[in-house]
Amino acid sequence: MDIKEAIYGRRSVRKYDGRPIKEEDIREIIEAGLMAPNASNYQPWYFVAVSNQEKLQEVKDIMARAAEILTPSLTARFEKYPQVVAETKQFISMMGNAPCCILAFLLKDDADYERKETEFVQSVAAALENMLLTAYSKGISSCWLTGPIEAEMDVILREKFAPDKGKMLAMITLGYSDQKPKAPRRREGRYEIIS
Ligand SMILES: Cc1cc2nc3c(=O)[nH]c(=O)nc-3n(C[C@H](O)[C@H](O)[C@H](O)COP(=O)(O)O)c2cc1C
Repeated sequence: MDIKEAIYGRRSVRKYDGRPIKEEDIREIIEAGLMAPNASNYQPWYFVAVSNQEKLQEVKDIMARAAEILTPSLTARFEKYPQVVAETKQFISMMGNAPCCILAFLLKDDADYERKETEFVQSVAAALENMLLTAYSKGISSCWLTGPIEAEMDVILREKFAPDKGKMLAMITLGYSDQKPKAPRRREGRYEIIS
């Protein structure tokens, strides 16, 4: 797929049809993440893909708690859009019926990493965007979430899935789309070119 088509065509998808994703596809998506630019070539990331039914249910149970915790802030953020609140809550609690999610962690939590946290967080973000675009190019949809971190569920997820790694930074859901979301309008005035 053409890179422009992937960048402009990818959308956050919050409802999936539940069809499983092949392990080789999950691997290819993660490997594309590992090819991202990263600070000082530390490759400061660790990813855990969960597609096992039982383990996925454990994540969903944790996410259901996150959805409850996030309700007040969601209601405040989308005061005029109760539908958005309901849909987002539904999405977070069930992960939109996603057959797979990837949890993104910093590789380490040591003092060196603390000092360079900004660079390392950006490195993980670059890897996640590579994953989203690669998934899209394979017909697999996704959504990037930090809601679980806001709800402080990252501590529980880390304990369960990567106890010896660093902070959890994000989750991405992966699956075959059961919806066709429109691109949220990109606002004017968010860049300038000084030439
Ligand atoms: C760092 C980050 C955190 C996000 N967290 C959430 C989240 O917790 N829940 C959610 O439903 N979407 C989340 N999103 C998805 C955004 O809402 C979405 O990217 C944005 O609305 C633009 O829509 P698009 O991805 O379809 O272009 C997140 C995206 C990013 C990059």
